[in-house]
Amino acid sequence: MLYMKKIFFSLILLFSGILIADEGMWLPLLLKSLNEKDMKKNGLKLSAEDIYSINKSSLKDAVVHFGGGCTAEIISESGLLLTNHHCGYSQIAAHSTVEKDYLTDGFWAMNREQELSNPGLTASIIQYMKDVTAEVKSGIRSGFSVAQIDSVTNLNIRKIEKEAVAGTHYEAYVRPFFYGNEYYLFVVETFRDIRLVGAPPSGIGKFGGETDNWVWPRHTGDFSVFRIYAAKDNKPADYSPENVPYKPKKSLTISLKGVNEGDFTMVYGFPGRTQEYLTSDAVDLIMSQSDPDKVKLREKRLTIMDSYMKVSDKTRIDYAAKYAGIANYWKKWAGEMNGLKYSNAVEIKKEFQDKFIRLISTDPIKKEKFNTSLNEFHDVYEKMKTLTKQMDYYSECIMGVEGFQYMRSYSALFTNYYAMKAGKKNTFQQDLDNLKKSEKTFYSSYHTEMDREICAEMLKCYDADVKTSLRPRFLDSLLNSFNHDYKALAKFLHDQPLLKAEELRKLVGNWDGNYKNYEKDVYLRLTREIIDYYSKNVQPAFSNYNSILTSMYSDYVREIKTTVKDRPFYPDANSTLRVAYGKVKGYQPRDGVSYGFYTTLDGIFEKENTGNEDFKAPKYLRELFQRKEFGSYADKKDGKIHVAFVASNHTTGGNSGSPVFNGNGELIGTNFDRCWEGTMSDILYNPKICRNIVLDVRYTLFVIDKYAGASHLIKEMKIVY
Ligand code: ARG
Ligand code: GLU
Repeated sequence: MLYMKKIFFSLILLFSGILIADEGMWLPLLLKSLNEKDMKKNGLKLSAEDIYSINKSSLKDAVVHFGGGCTAEIISESGLLLTNHHCGYSQIAAHSTVEKDYLTDGFWAMNREQELSNPGLTASIIQYMKDVTAEVKSGIRSGFSVAQIDSVTNLNIRKIEKEAVAGTHYEAYVRPFFYGNEYYLFVVETFRDIRLVGAPPSGIGKFGGETDNWVWPRHTGDFSVFRIYAAKDNKPADYSPENVPYKPKKSLTISLKGVNEGDFTMVYGFPGRTQEYLTSDAVDLIMSQSDPDKVKLREKRLTIMDSYMKVSDKTRIDYAAKYAGIANYWKKWAGEMNGLKYSNAVEIKKEFQDKFIRLISTDPIKKEKFNTSLNEFHDVYEKMKTLTKQMDYYSECIMGVEGFQYMRSYSALFTNYYAMKAGKKNTFQQDLDNLKKSEKTFYSSYHTEMDREICAEMLKCYDADVKTSLRPRFLDSLLNSFNHDYKALAKFLHDQPLLKAEELRKLVGNWDGNYKNYEKDVYLRLTREIIDYYSKNVQPAFSNYNSILTSMYSDYVREIKTTVKDRPFYPDANSTLRVAYGKVKGYQPRDGVSYGFYTTLDGIFEKENTGNEDFKAPKYLRELFQRKEFGSYADKKDGKIHVAFVASNHTTGGNSGSPVFNGNGELIGTNFDRCWEGTMSDILYNPKICRNIVLDVRYTLFVIDKYAGASHLIKEMKIVY
């Protein structure tokens, strides 16, 4: 009986498993036809029209593309914006000085006058999106070459974009979906006066630092608050003291009801990039070569950086953001390759391909075509192995050295100079002016010794891992003349004139009189030879294979989409607006280990006791905790402040700051990370271990209200209890 029951339940799971939420990043425009029914079955109380509409205000009007790389949401009728601390990090840092260190101490504008402007920061809101596939493809005839198709496509796209915004202040972009099988137009309104309203201290907003990055259980209060300002007519304008808070079409209602395991959740935002339909050979290349290479190279850099940052406060501060950036993807790739292995991703993709071939075998012509095509994929990826290695070692090994990065920009300067001399298009004057402007800061936060050590280590790796026949000859001859003594070669390179502030000042101060002397700089020459080698021998082949692959994937994805019925098909993330939905859910990362779905303030002080510097919380937070001054933000069931929770929404980079909704469309949190074990969801979503990490909105409000005393902001919000 029990046995029968088990079979019955696994059958139910099997069948409903196809439909159960979790995987997928869906186009808001298509929710009605593709997802509404399933979403309702899983707990959504709204209609698709409440989420995305062009006729009335809907949730989409409160979802903001923040600075192009993150998401934010509008939470008041006066344009108040909520996003992550790490999304506002560079703005908070830019306003910080040693005397007013907003990164360390936090910042709160106690009135509108104190809100701080951020040149260059934008906030874009989607007005509407539209399927323009037919228009983009019009004029393409069978027999066209790939180049011809590209050129017609691009012309059409430019025309559509132009026409869509003629006579308006909107912007438009068309993006390909499913490898160019579909195209959508997006029309957006972009605001340019975005002010910083508040940020918690790092001890809250970056609590856990790199130790906890990508990790669950998590206690990071990863939020910051901004405000959109507009001209008096409510339209976008450059910064002006005359500007007024933007009146949104929609501002979100915030729920303090909290979440339970199994509750419906929905994430609305701008995921950056996924590759869900890669073939087994591509996954193997990433898992067995590219990720391990990149992880190894970054690990070496980080170890060296760490040793210098530990002993000097200046170095630590100068390199904080750089280190965070390098460490972020180092850890992500490590999680990805482990997760792909753990989930047998290559086998799963192979099985899928076999199944696909079985399903189309009723049509012998198609069967033949795609059998051939899958073999071709295999051949192309075989060829891509070497090219990928070369490319990875260019970006992560050579360009992992700041010295090479500097030389790359000087090299561009010289190239532009000669272009100017030859009467060709160039940006020489502009680049030179920019360099002059930043003259005083040249190398001011550059640690020569540290970078020299990194250079030696990277040269060693390059020499060991990239075959002699596959590298620039000048590099090889330098390596030989230094007898492969990497330290000596690095010292020689880093002693070259252009890496010295005084010398560079001489060059930009009197270009015409001096450029000939500096052209001989060996570091510069080496960099130019490397760039030249890559642009002739590697880049063209790499791009060529990539465009071949795009056209192969275009056929393949179109066919699997119509043939295979038991998996969801949604377009890969491409920085366009998407909805993901799932459930609040803990997970079992490994055998015998089980993670709960939420964390609390208690955990912050547990972690603080471990002595790790990444876990230092502000004193006043502890006082509030001890006095239990939780206001109305404590959980109704356990009386604790809940900090974060996990759910099965399919998200990726760019979803940071995204609003997370309950079934009523009320804001319950802000997305800020994924669990390490499941970071391979960019390539293969495994419902067992893929979870997004959400900051509980009750913690955000608790910090704003009780910790920062910024209750005037709370008064702006619409809150339901
Ligand atoms: N892992 C998160 C994301 O991908 C947070 C990154 C914040 N940066 C960091 N190095 N801690 O963006
Ligand atoms: N922290 C990431 C971001 O900045 C989100 C994490 C992820 O990749 O899912 O977008």
